[in-house]
Amino acid sequence: MPHRRRLGPMNSTPRRVENLHTDKGKVPVYATGVVEQPWDDYRPADHGVWRQLYERQRALLVGRACDEFLQAQDAMGMTPDRIPKFADINRVLERATGWTLIGVEGLLPELDFFDHLARRRFPVTWWIRRPDQVDYIEEPDLFHDLFGHVPLLMNPLFADYMQAYGRGGLKAHAIGPEALQQLTRLYWYTVEFGLIRQHDGLRIYGSGIVSSKGESLYCLDSPAPNRIGFDLERIMRTRYRIDTYQKTYFVIDSFAQLMDATGPDFTPIYARLAAQPAIAAGAVLPGDRVLQRGSGEGWAADGDV
Ligand SMILES: [Fe+2]
Repeated sequence: MPHRRRLGPMNSTPRRVENLHTDKGKVPVYATGVVEQPWDDYRPADHGVWRQLYERQRALLVGRACDEFLQAQDAMGMTPDRIPKFADINRVLERATGWTLIGVEGLLPELDFFDHLARRRFPVTWWIRRPDQVDYIEEPDLFHDLFGHVPLLMNPLFADYMQAYGRGGLKAHAIGPEALQQLTRLYWYTVEFGLIRQHDGLRIYGSGIVSSKGESLYCLDSPAPNRIGFDLERIMRTRYRIDTYQKTYFVIDSFAQLMDATGPDFTPIYARLAAQPAIAAGAVLPGDRVLQRGSGEGWAADGDV
Protein backbone atom coordinates (compact mmCIF):
# COMPACT_ATOMS: atom_id res chain seq x y z
CA MET A 1 0.00 0.00 0.00
CA PRO A 2 1.27 3.52 -0.70
CA HIS A 3 2.53 5.47 2.25
CA ARG A 4 0.19 8.33 2.98
CA ARG A 5 2.29 11.38 3.74
CA ARG A 6 1.34 13.37 6.77
CA LEU A 7 2.59 16.89 6.97
CA GLY A 8 2.20 19.72 9.45
CA PRO A 9 -0.79 19.52 11.74
CA MET A 10 -2.04 16.37 10.01
CA ASN A 11 0.87 14.43 11.52
CA SER A 12 -1.13 12.81 14.27
CA THR A 13 -4.63 13.14 12.92
CA PRO A 14 -6.38 9.96 11.86
CA ARG A 15 -8.73 10.31 8.95
CA ARG A 16 -12.31 10.22 10.11
CA VAL A 17 -14.76 10.17 7.30
CA GLU A 18 -18.01 10.50 9.20
CA ASN A 19 -19.75 9.88 12.48
CA LEU A 20 -22.57 7.41 12.75
CA HIS A 21 -25.29 7.46 15.35
CA THR A 22 -25.92 3.89 16.41
CA ASP A 23 -27.28 2.02 19.41
CA LYS A 24 -23.78 2.33 20.83
CA GLY A 25 -23.81 6.11 20.62
CA LYS A 26 -21.85 8.22 18.23
CA VAL A 27 -19.38 5.96 16.47
CA PRO A 28 -16.60 7.45 14.38
CA VAL A 29 -16.05 5.84 11.03
CA TYR A 30 -12.55 5.95 9.70
CA ALA A 31 -11.02 5.60 6.31
CA THR A 32 -10.79 1.85 5.82
CA GLY A 33 -7.61 1.49 3.81
CA VAL A 34 -4.44 -0.12 5.09
CA VAL A 35 -1.82 2.49 5.98
CA GLU A 36 1.84 2.17 6.66
CA GLN A 37 2.58 2.88 10.30
CA PRO A 38 3.94 6.46 10.29
CA TRP A 39 6.52 5.53 12.88
CA ASP A 40 8.85 8.48 12.25
CA ASP A 41 5.99 10.86 12.93
CA TYR A 42 5.44 9.72 16.50
CA ARG A 43 6.50 12.44 18.88
CA PRO A 44 8.22 12.05 22.25
CA ALA A 45 4.81 12.53 23.90
CA ASP A 46 3.43 9.55 21.94
CA HIS A 47 6.30 7.30 23.01
CA GLY A 48 5.83 8.66 26.52
CA VAL A 49 2.20 7.56 26.60
CA TRP A 50 3.22 4.09 25.42
CA ARG A 51 5.90 3.89 28.10
CA GLN A 52 3.61 5.07 30.87
CA LEU A 53 0.82 2.67 29.94
CA TYR A 54 3.15 -0.23 29.23
CA GLU A 55 5.01 0.04 32.52
CA ARG A 56 1.85 0.49 34.53
CA GLN A 57 -0.02 -2.40 32.95
CA ARG A 58 2.90 -4.83 32.96
CA ALA A 59 3.50 -4.21 36.65
CA LEU A 60 -0.18 -4.82 37.29
CA LEU A 61 -0.58 -7.83 35.02
CA VAL A 62 2.11 -10.09 36.43
CA GLY A 63 0.05 -12.64 38.34
CA ARG A 64 -3.15 -11.33 36.73
CA ALA A 65 -2.78 -11.90 32.99
CA CYS A 66 -2.40 -15.49 31.79
CA ASP A 67 1.14 -16.78 31.29
CA GLU A 68 0.74 -17.03 27.51
CA PHE A 69 -0.03 -13.34 27.27
CA LEU A 70 2.96 -12.13 29.27
CA GLN A 71 5.37 -14.56 27.62
CA ALA A 72 4.19 -13.55 24.16
CA GLN A 73 4.72 -9.85 24.84
CA ASP A 74 8.31 -10.59 25.74
CA ALA A 75 8.80 -12.96 22.82
CA MET A 76 7.58 -10.28 20.40
CA GLY A 77 10.12 -7.83 21.71
CA MET A 78 7.57 -5.37 23.07
CA THR A 79 9.29 -3.06 25.54
CA PRO A 80 8.31 0.16 27.28
CA ASP A 81 11.11 2.07 25.55
CA ARG A 82 9.21 3.13 22.47
CA ILE A 83 6.17 2.34 20.39
CA PRO A 84 6.96 -0.90 18.59
CA LYS A 85 7.30 -0.94 14.84
CA PHE A 86 4.67 -3.16 13.24
CA ALA A 87 7.32 -4.44 10.83
CA ASP A 88 9.47 -5.68 13.72
CA ILE A 89 6.53 -7.42 15.38
CA ASN A 90 5.54 -8.97 12.07
CA ARG A 91 8.90 -10.66 11.63
CA VAL A 92 8.29 -12.61 14.84
CA LEU A 93 4.53 -13.05 14.56
CA GLU A 94 4.43 -14.24 10.99
CA ARG A 95 6.97 -16.92 11.74
CA ALA A 96 5.08 -18.02 14.84
CA THR A 97 1.50 -18.29 13.56
CA GLY A 98 1.27 -16.75 10.10
CA TRP A 99 -0.52 -13.62 11.34
CA THR A 100 0.54 -10.12 10.30
CA LEU A 101 -0.37 -6.72 11.67
CA ILE A 102 -1.71 -4.09 9.32
CA GLY A 103 -1.96 -0.40 10.17
CA VAL A 104 -5.40 1.22 10.05
CA GLU A 105 -6.88 4.61 10.91
CA GLY A 106 -9.22 3.25 13.58
CA LEU A 107 -12.28 1.07 14.05
CA LEU A 108 -13.22 -0.65 10.83
CA PRO A 109 -16.68 -1.52 9.55
CA GLU A 110 -17.51 -5.08 10.60
CA LEU A 111 -17.22 -6.63 7.16
CA ASP A 112 -13.73 -5.20 6.57
CA PHE A 113 -12.66 -6.31 10.02
CA PHE A 114 -13.93 -9.87 9.52
CA ASP A 115 -12.28 -10.09 6.13
CA HIS A 116 -8.89 -9.14 7.54
CA LEU A 117 -9.19 -11.65 10.38
CA ALA A 118 -10.23 -14.40 7.99
CA ARG A 119 -6.94 -13.75 6.15
CA ARG A 120 -4.93 -13.71 9.37
CA ARG A 121 -4.36 -9.97 9.24
CA PHE A 122 -4.91 -8.06 12.45
CA PRO A 123 -5.79 -4.36 12.03
CA VAL A 124 -3.95 -2.14 14.51
CA THR A 125 -4.83 1.52 14.94
CA TRP A 126 -1.64 3.47 14.24
CA TRP A 127 -2.29 6.43 16.58
CA ILE A 128 -2.00 6.43 20.33
CA ARG A 129 -4.14 8.29 22.85
CA ARG A 130 -3.15 11.66 24.27
CA PRO A 131 -1.54 11.96 27.72
CA ASP A 132 -4.84 13.22 29.18
CA GLN A 133 -6.55 10.02 27.93
CA VAL A 134 -4.25 7.59 29.70
CA ASP A 135 -6.95 6.30 32.03
CA TYR A 136 -9.81 6.15 29.60
CA ILE A 137 -10.44 6.36 25.89
CA GLU A 138 -13.72 5.50 24.23
CA GLU A 139 -12.36 3.95 21.08
CA PRO A 140 -9.53 1.52 20.43
CA ASP A 141 -6.12 3.12 19.90
CA LEU A 142 -2.67 1.66 19.31
CA PHE A 143 -2.20 0.77 22.96
CA HIS A 144 -5.42 -1.23 23.15
CA ASP A 145 -4.84 -2.98 19.84
CA LEU A 146 -1.13 -3.67 20.09
CA PHE A 147 -0.58 -4.20 23.79
CA GLY A 148 -3.97 -5.85 24.32
CA HIS A 149 -4.84 -7.89 21.23
CA VAL A 150 -1.62 -8.78 19.50
CA PRO A 151 0.28 -10.90 22.06
CA LEU A 152 -2.17 -13.82 22.03
CA LEU A 153 -1.91 -14.03 18.24
CA MET A 154 1.41 -15.73 19.04
CA ASN A 155 -0.55 -18.61 20.56
CA PRO A 156 -1.43 -21.16 17.84
CA LEU A 157 -4.86 -22.00 19.30
CA PHE A 158 -5.88 -18.42 19.89
CA ALA A 159 -4.52 -17.47 16.48
CA ASP A 160 -6.83 -20.06 14.91
CA TYR A 161 -9.74 -18.88 17.03
CA MET A 162 -9.35 -15.33 15.75
CA GLN A 163 -9.30 -16.49 12.15
CA ALA A 164 -12.35 -18.67 12.76
CA TYR A 165 -14.08 -15.64 14.22
CA GLY A 166 -13.35 -13.65 11.07
CA ARG A 167 -14.72 -16.41 8.85
CA GLY A 168 -17.72 -16.77 11.14
CA GLY A 169 -18.31 -13.04 10.97
CA LEU A 170 -18.46 -13.07 7.18
CA LYS A 171 -21.02 -15.86 7.37
CA ALA A 172 -23.07 -14.23 10.11
CA HIS A 173 -23.12 -11.00 8.18
CA ALA A 174 -24.72 -12.83 5.28
CA ILE A 175 -27.26 -14.54 7.56
CA GLY A 176 -28.52 -11.36 9.21
CA PRO A 177 -28.26 -8.83 12.03
CA GLU A 178 -29.39 -11.21 14.78
CA ALA A 179 -26.68 -13.73 13.94
CA LEU A 180 -24.15 -10.93 13.90
CA GLN A 181 -25.31 -9.68 17.27
CA GLN A 182 -24.94 -13.15 18.78
CA LEU A 183 -21.44 -13.50 17.36
CA THR A 184 -20.47 -10.05 18.59
CA ARG A 185 -21.41 -11.10 22.12
CA LEU A 186 -19.09 -14.06 21.84
CA TYR A 187 -16.24 -11.77 20.78
CA TRP A 188 -17.02 -9.38 23.60
CA TYR A 189 -17.04 -12.01 26.33
CA THR A 190 -13.98 -13.86 25.05
CA VAL A 191 -11.55 -11.77 22.99
CA GLU A 192 -12.29 -8.51 24.80
CA PHE A 193 -13.33 -9.50 28.33
CA GLY A 194 -12.43 -13.15 28.78
CA LEU A 195 -10.98 -14.79 31.88
CA ILE A 196 -9.17 -18.12 31.90
CA ARG A 197 -8.69 -20.64 34.65
CA GLN A 198 -4.97 -21.28 34.87
CA HIS A 199 -3.35 -23.99 37.05
CA ASP A 200 -2.73 -21.41 39.78
CA GLY A 201 -5.93 -19.40 39.62
CA LEU A 202 -8.08 -17.10 37.52
CA ARG A 203 -6.24 -15.03 34.96
CA ILE A 204 -7.10 -12.41 32.35
CA TYR A 205 -6.80 -12.92 28.60
CA GLY A 206 -9.32 -10.35 27.28
CA SER A 207 -7.81 -7.35 25.51
CA GLY A 208 -10.34 -4.90 26.87
CA ILE A 209 -9.25 -5.85 30.36
CA VAL A 210 -5.47 -6.00 29.95
CA SER A 211 -5.42 -2.54 28.40
CA SER A 212 -7.41 -1.05 31.32
CA LYS A 213 -5.94 -0.46 34.75
CA GLY A 214 -9.29 -0.24 36.48
CA GLU A 215 -10.78 -3.35 34.94
CA SER A 216 -7.58 -5.40 35.40
CA LEU A 217 -8.14 -4.97 39.12
CA TYR A 218 -11.92 -5.09 39.15
CA CYS A 219 -12.41 -8.27 37.12
CA LEU A 220 -10.39 -10.41 39.54
CA ASP A 221 -10.67 -8.58 42.87
CA SER A 222 -14.12 -7.04 43.08
CA PRO A 223 -16.96 -8.99 44.71
CA ALA A 224 -19.45 -7.21 42.41
CA PRO A 225 -19.30 -9.12 39.08
CA ASN A 226 -20.40 -12.67 38.33
CA ARG A 227 -17.77 -15.12 37.17
CA ILE A 228 -19.38 -17.91 35.22
CA GLY A 229 -17.98 -20.89 33.33
CA PHE A 230 -17.85 -20.57 29.54
CA ASP A 231 -21.01 -21.69 27.76
CA LEU A 232 -21.18 -20.79 24.08
CA GLU A 233 -24.93 -20.43 23.60
CA ARG A 234 -25.41 -18.76 26.97
CA ILE A 235 -22.83 -16.14 26.02
CA MET A 236 -24.37 -15.59 22.61
CA ARG A 237 -27.60 -14.60 24.34
CA THR A 238 -26.02 -12.30 26.92
CA ARG A 239 -26.13 -8.54 26.63
CA TYR A 240 -23.12 -6.57 27.79
CA ARG A 241 -21.85 -3.20 29.01
CA ILE A 242 -19.96 -0.71 26.94
CA ASP A 243 -20.05 2.13 29.47
CA THR A 244 -19.08 0.39 32.72
CA TYR A 245 -17.04 -2.60 33.83
CA GLN A 246 -18.70 -5.91 32.96
CA LYS A 247 -21.37 -7.31 35.25
CA THR A 248 -20.39 -10.84 34.26
CA TYR A 249 -17.11 -12.41 33.16
CA PHE A 250 -17.09 -15.80 31.46
CA VAL A 251 -14.23 -18.12 32.30
CA ILE A 252 -12.66 -20.61 29.91
CA ASP A 253 -10.60 -23.59 31.08
CA SER A 254 -8.21 -23.43 28.12
CA PHE A 255 -7.82 -21.96 24.66
CA ALA A 256 -8.48 -25.45 23.32
CA GLN A 257 -11.93 -25.27 24.89
CA LEU A 258 -12.60 -22.05 22.96
CA MET A 259 -11.51 -23.64 19.69
CA ASP A 260 -13.55 -26.79 20.27
CA ALA A 261 -16.70 -24.90 21.17
CA THR A 262 -16.51 -22.72 18.10
CA GLY A 263 -15.53 -25.44 15.64
CA PRO A 264 -19.06 -26.46 14.56
CA ASP A 265 -21.10 -24.48 12.06
CA PHE A 266 -23.07 -21.80 13.92
CA THR A 267 -25.96 -21.66 11.44
CA PRO A 268 -28.26 -23.99 13.42
CA ILE A 269 -27.22 -22.26 16.65
CA TYR A 270 -28.26 -18.87 15.29
CA ALA A 271 -31.62 -20.30 14.27
CA ARG A 272 -32.16 -21.88 17.68
CA LEU A 273 -31.14 -18.77 19.61
CA ALA A 274 -33.33 -16.47 17.53
CA ALA A 275 -36.34 -17.95 19.33
CA GLN A 276 -34.90 -17.31 22.79
CA PRO A 277 -34.88 -14.05 24.73
CA ALA A 278 -31.64 -12.18 25.39
CA ILE A 279 -30.15 -12.42 28.88
CA ALA A 280 -29.41 -9.34 30.99
CA ALA A 281 -25.70 -8.63 31.52
CA GLY A 282 -25.88 -9.30 35.26
CA ALA A 283 -28.28 -12.27 35.29
CA VAL A 284 -27.39 -15.65 36.79
CA LEU A 285 -29.35 -18.60 35.39
CA PRO A 286 -30.16 -21.95 37.00
CA GLY A 287 -27.95 -23.83 34.53
CA ASP A 288 -24.90 -21.60 34.98
CA ARG A 289 -21.60 -22.99 36.23
CA VAL A 290 -21.12 -20.22 38.77
CA LEU A 291 -17.55 -19.72 39.96
CA GLN A 292 -18.54 -16.65 41.88
CA ARG A 293 -21.88 -14.98 42.16
CA GLY A 294 -21.49 -11.22 42.07
CA SER A 295 -22.81 -8.95 44.79
CA GLY A 296 -24.02 -6.55 42.12
CA GLU A 297 -22.63 -3.65 44.11
CA GLY A 298 -22.41 -0.44 42.11
CA TRP A 299 -24.21 -1.79 39.06
CA ALA A 300 -26.16 0.60 36.88
CA ALA A 301 -29.81 -0.46 36.67
CA ASP A 302 -30.01 -0.27 32.90
CA GLY A 303 -27.82 0.35 29.90
CA ASP A 304 -27.03 -3.17 28.68
CA VAL A 305 -26.48 -3.28 24.94
FE1 LIG B 1 -10.52 -4.56 21.08
